[in-house]
Amino acid sequence: MFLSKKTCVSLLLASSLYVSTCAVSFDGQYIQPTTTNDAVEWWWGSAVGIPESPGSPGPVLQFLFYQGYSVLADSDHSSLPEYYITINGFFPNGTDFSLTVPATSGVISEGNGNEVTGTWGTVGGFRISSDLKTMFVTFTAPDAPYGISGSMNLTSNRANHYGCNVTDSPYFDVSKPSQTLNDPEETLFTQLGWAVAIPGGTADVDITINGTQLQFTGNGYHDQNWMPLALNEFISSWYFGFAEIGPYTLSYVSATPLNSSVVFNTGYLATDQAVLQNQCSVNGSKTTDISIIQPTGEMAGAEGTTAPSGWTLTYVVDDGTEYEFKLVPTGVNPDIVIYQRWTGLISGGKKGEKSYEGVATFEWLNPGLNVYSA
Ligand SMILES: *[C@@H]1O[C@H](CO)[C@@H](O)[C@H](O)[C@H]1NC(C)=O
Ligand SMILES: *[C@@H]1O[C@H](CO)[C@@H](O)[C@H](O)[C@H]1NC(C)=O
Ligand SMILES: *[C@@H]1O[C@H](CO)[C@@H](O)[C@H](O)[C@H]1NC(C)=O
Ligand SMILES: *[C@@H]1O[C@H](CO)[C@@H](O)[C@H](O)[C@H]1NC(C)=O
Ligand SMILES: *[C@@H]1O[C@H](CO)[C@@H](O)[C@H](O)[C@H]1NC(C)=O
Ligand SMILES: *[C@@H]1O[C@H](CO)[C@@H](O)[C@H](O)[C@H]1NC(C)=O
Repeated sequence: MFLSKKTCVSLLLASSLYVSTCAVSFDGQYIQPTTTNDAVEWWWGSAVGIPESPGSPGPVLQFLFYQGYSVLADSDHSSLPEYYITINGFFPNGTDFSLTVPATSGVISEGNGNEVTGTWGTVGGFRISSDLKTMFVTFTAPDAPYGISGSMNLTSNRANHYGCNVTDSPYFDVSKPSQTLNDPEETLFTQLGWAVAIPGGTADVDITINGTQLQFTGNGYHDQNWMPLALNEFISSWYFGFAEIGPYTLSYVSATPLNSSVVFNTGYLATDQAVLQNQCSVNGSKTTDISIIQPTGEMAGAEGTTAPSGWTLTYVVDDGTEYEFKLVPTGVNPDIVIYQRWTGLISGGKKGEKSYEGVATFEWLNPGLNVYSA
């Protein structure tokens, strides 16, 4: 079921010089970011609640426990904090909040089974249970200028997974195209790791931000990523999203490396009964067992740019059955040209059958500054 220690060590030794440790737990430390390399590893989690009023984002709390930087303006980041937590969200009335809390350290320790504890100095931390069923997150930076304290608990409703329907590798190399790849393509297929410990479930949030309480129960999600370079050093464009809708738990990534026309997709779709899809592939390389995310329409985006006003997400599972979902933004945070993260509504289901509704988070990371038009 889980990555064995031996497989992991040989995989990582073959793939990267930056690696000095190897995760023995599914959600552990896979790469070693330092102040003198461009490696980054982050643990991300999300709670999205039901909107208070139509058209407004619901209460949202999303965190990233960082080691290193997902976007680097300059490889010399020695003056920046190596460890920090970024927190973004919305209050129930739709007002957004964002903060970054630097930490003196970011230590991952692995316990029994798959238990992982993350300790970010004195400002926050998390613990994933040995069965990967729960994640307990705390924020302990109540003093100005941060003003955040409280906790969040995620309870999983699905089994953990990697991106390519395999249990022995967190990388996308099984979908690597056969032609000679450029460096950014090679990095995407062989060195960008993705481990989804909590594909979906419930989130209980109770935090205080600058004296205002944010307490709600919503949908939960938690994954982690790592890579030897910052994303902007090898990725041009990247779409990611996840949702719980009716009986379905879903997520997707679609990424295009720099200097490349390759569109890499990974898609996950599951119900209580079955994992309907867990695939990775190059867009256009096959016609079933695929996921496609397509931006549609136009709206005002970050910093005067144009953004999609919606998205269509299609899963064609192995037997040809299609599932289709529409995503429509209700709020955005962060909202910068290289990174827009929307909260919104999702509707859809199996094509031609009952359509469900839910809440979703979906993002466009655009380090290549690609210009969008419908
Ligand atoms: C929304 O709620 C936040 C937190 O309670 C509050 O600070 C803000 O003023 C509210 N905004 C509006 C427009 O009511
Ligand atoms: C909390 O208050 C401080 C000081 O007024 C301010 O700098 C900070 O941005 C506030 N935090 C949030 C998340 O609004
Ligand atoms: C995904 O993996 C499972 C378990 O090994 C297998 O039963 C299933 O057929 C695989 N799905 C596809 C589409 O290959
Ligand atoms: C999360 O779980 C911990 C440990 O059981 C508990 O102390 C805390 O109150 C919970 N937090 C929320 C928001 O439910
Ligand atoms: C992309 O191509 C340009 C022009 O050939 C080159 O200067 C640049 O280094 C390439 N970027 C990467 C990340 O390989
Ligand atoms: C992905 O492939 C589908 C056909 O399977 C095509 O309609 C779509 O335009 C492709 N998307 C991109 C971004 O190339």
